[in-house]
Amino acid sequence: MGKITIAIDGYSSTGKSTIAKQLAKSLGYVYVDTGAMYRAVTLYAMRQGYIGGKEENMDKLIADLPNLSIKFVYNESLGFSEMYLNGENVEKEIRALPVSRLVSKIATLEAVRIKLVAMQQEMGKEKGIVMDGRDIGTVVFPDAEFKIFMTASPETRAFRRYKELLDRGEEVTYDEVLKNVQSRDYIDSHREFSPLKKADNAIEFDNSDMGLKEQLERIHNFALRKI
Ligand code: C5P
Repeated sequence: MGKITIAIDGYSSTGKSTIAKQLAKSLGYVYVDTGAMYRAVTLYAMRQGYIGGKEENMDKLIADLPNLSIKFVYNESLGFSEMYLNGENVEKEIRALPVSRLVSKIATLEAVRIKLVAMQQEMGKEKGIVMDGRDIGTVVFPDAEFKIFMTASPETRAFRRYKELLDRGEEVTYDEVLKNVQSRDYIDSHREFSPLKKADNAIEFDNSDMGLKEQLERIHNFALRKI
């Protein structure tokens, strides 16, 4: 069986990564969470004081990009890859709300996108990959054989995210999560470089009223028809 490229794009907290991860597992493909890459750059910018403090300095971040190393390292016992920033495991920190609040701003920067897209294209050059993000089917792999665009109502998505953050022990309110989801969607869809949009040949998949098992079954079947 030939290997293909699978691009999963869509709005924030639509469950893209859960689906992508499981789909990759069942097909024996590599899974890449590109959101984690933008989150790691954001964490770096926060730690260096380029964003999130009194003053913002995006030019300094751009000049500093060559000093930033981001890498996925496979964790055998967990069965998935974790994000490392300059050698440090930052998996937990990049998922927390402070990073979520600033990541979409960092993702508007063309220089950041150029660096990350080049890394993503390199990771997927052998095919046999499931990659999720916002611009995978439109910019990173416009020739991907199978593209999905995931949507769900903002309230459904915020509620799922809220539960996930609570489970991880974070102190958040539903309202602040909803606000974050809506603001990221807005910035992601309106930015100048590679805005979030459905690729013409992507299948739109609304999972507002669908459980995980059903989503996986359907998407897996779609994928098998393309392989
Ligand atoms: O997928 P996740 O919610 O972790 O992505 C975090 C943010 O990273 C998105 O809201 C978006 O601003 C940015 N992103 C992007 N392009 C991608 C993946 C993520 O701009 N391919």
